[in-house]
Amino acid sequence: MAPDHPLFDTLTGIVGAAGVVTAADDIAPYAIDWRRLFPGTPACVVRPKSTAEVAAVVRACRAAGVALVPQGGNTGMAGGAVPDASGRQVLLSLNRMNAIREVDPVGLTLEAEAGVILSVAKEAAAASDRLLPISLAAEGSALIGGVVSTNAGGINVLRYGMTRALVLGLEVVLADGRIVNGLRRLRKDNAGYDWKQLFIGSEGTLGIVTAAVLRLVPKPRHSVTALIAVEKPEAALRLLDKAQTEIGDTLQAFELISGASIALVGQHAGLKCPIAPASWFLLIEAGSTLPGLRDAAEALLASAFEDGMAVDGVIAETGAQAASLWALREHITESEAREGKSVKHDISVPLTSIPAFLAETEAMLAEVAPGIRLNVFGHLGDGNLHYNVMIQSGHDAGSINRAVHDMVTRYGGSISAEHGIGQYRVEELQRTRSPEELALARQLKQALDPAGLLNPGKVLPHG
Ligand code: FAD
Ligand code: MLT
Ligand code: ZN
Repeated sequence: MAPDHPLFDTLTGIVGAAGVVTAADDIAPYAIDWRRLFPGTPACVVRPKSTAEVAAVVRACRAAGVALVPQGGNTGMAGGAVPDASGRQVLLSLNRMNAIREVDPVGLTLEAEAGVILSVAKEAAAASDRLLPISLAAEGSALIGGVVSTNAGGINVLRYGMTRALVLGLEVVLADGRIVNGLRRLRKDNAGYDWKQLFIGSEGTLGIVTAAVLRLVPKPRHSVTALIAVEKPEAALRLLDKAQTEIGDTLQAFELISGASIALVGQHAGLKCPIAPASWFLLIEAGSTLPGLRDAAEALLASAFEDGMAVDGVIAETGAQAASLWALREHITESEAREGKSVKHDISVPLTSIPAFLAETEAMLAEVAPGIRLNVFGHLGDGNLHYNVMIQSGHDAGSINRAVHDMVTRYGGSISAEHGIGQYRVEELQRTRSPEELALARQLKQALDPAGLLNPGKVLPHG
């Protein structure tokens, strides 16, 4: 867009000069995704401070026929928050809308604007002795609006559900600039369509999330964290089954980590695993407001060793030890990025199919792409694996990606369990969903954004 385009003046009139970023150096951090796979060229970055300003920006862009790309903390894994290379899309950053409006420890709610950092919202809940149970390695940068718009998962879905299960109310700005305020704090609300569900997980393609009411839960006072080595994924599932039976209502994380992931973290983050190398590890956490959990967890693990499900393990004795076990898990993504090129898959399959899926996919890849290395880890308790394939020159990322997704489809799974479609998976979504599902998605997009100006080309292809 030419520097003298009248839209720049209009936007400056709405958000003030400090709210419109045009200098190339200042734009740079907004213009490329976390994985540095999708560089874009925003016409400018607009940073409104209120919902009314967001609405005015949306109306101004609509009047000028200019597309808007919403951005939160820019930690998304699918390239959804960056514009294309045309230089004609305005990047709408919510990062100045950062007020926590209310924490209600009795009603168990927290109301926050879209630009609040997830970890800041969690600290505010903790200050009232409550827990906001959305936990991801990116929580120090991801913003509430981005978390809602991606329906983020993370390590505590097993107990508390995806973000969707924790959103009680939402305020959104529609594509025509109208503000819809649904910031209710109700557990029960069957009055008409639950329209907020359309905006949760739709990655900024149907509306702009400006604030949310999130559900809090009681903060567990007692917790147990253990790192356990198992020989095979089958043993991991047997242990999950046993844990569900014996301490199921306290189980809040059941993460699978391959030996290869632990080796990457050792190499690139310098973190040492406290137990001997193994093919697979489980990082298990349970929490409760009542005492007695540790005894129950120790009894569970003791019998898992007796039954041969577990071969080695350690239970954290202190909070610091628990944090150092979690550090191993939290550094996998960063270590993988340092190692080199990878083809990421964020897949889910029915839980009991995981051992067969892993065996069959590894054998298939050895045939179609000899020389690849795998970095497999993820949220086993949710049936969600990050099945990442480390490649070298000569490997074709596209065909590896399609082959893994074909296998996922054959197992009745999803090609995106938690990260979303963004621009990274647009073609794969078209290839793997039914014509009826795709037509329904188009109908929703047409109804809510008929001019196609909200995050075009994300989730659905252009046009
Ligand atoms: P962004 O990346 O800024 O945006 C994501 C999408 O939402 C884009 O399409 C954008 O246009 C849209 N959007 C952003 N804000 C708004 C808004 N206010 N209104 C409308 N649309 C908006 N994800 C998981 O699910 N589970 C994990 O365990 C996990 N771990 C991660 C670990 C690391 C190290 C990293 C880097 C990422 C991880 N992620 C994980 C991915 C990412 O953190 C989440 O998707 C997060 O919810 C994105 O939030 P964000 O504010 O950074 O959003
Ligand atoms: C995780 O579970 O750590 C993430 O979703 C990030 C990733 O897939 O790399
Ligand atoms: Zn994940």
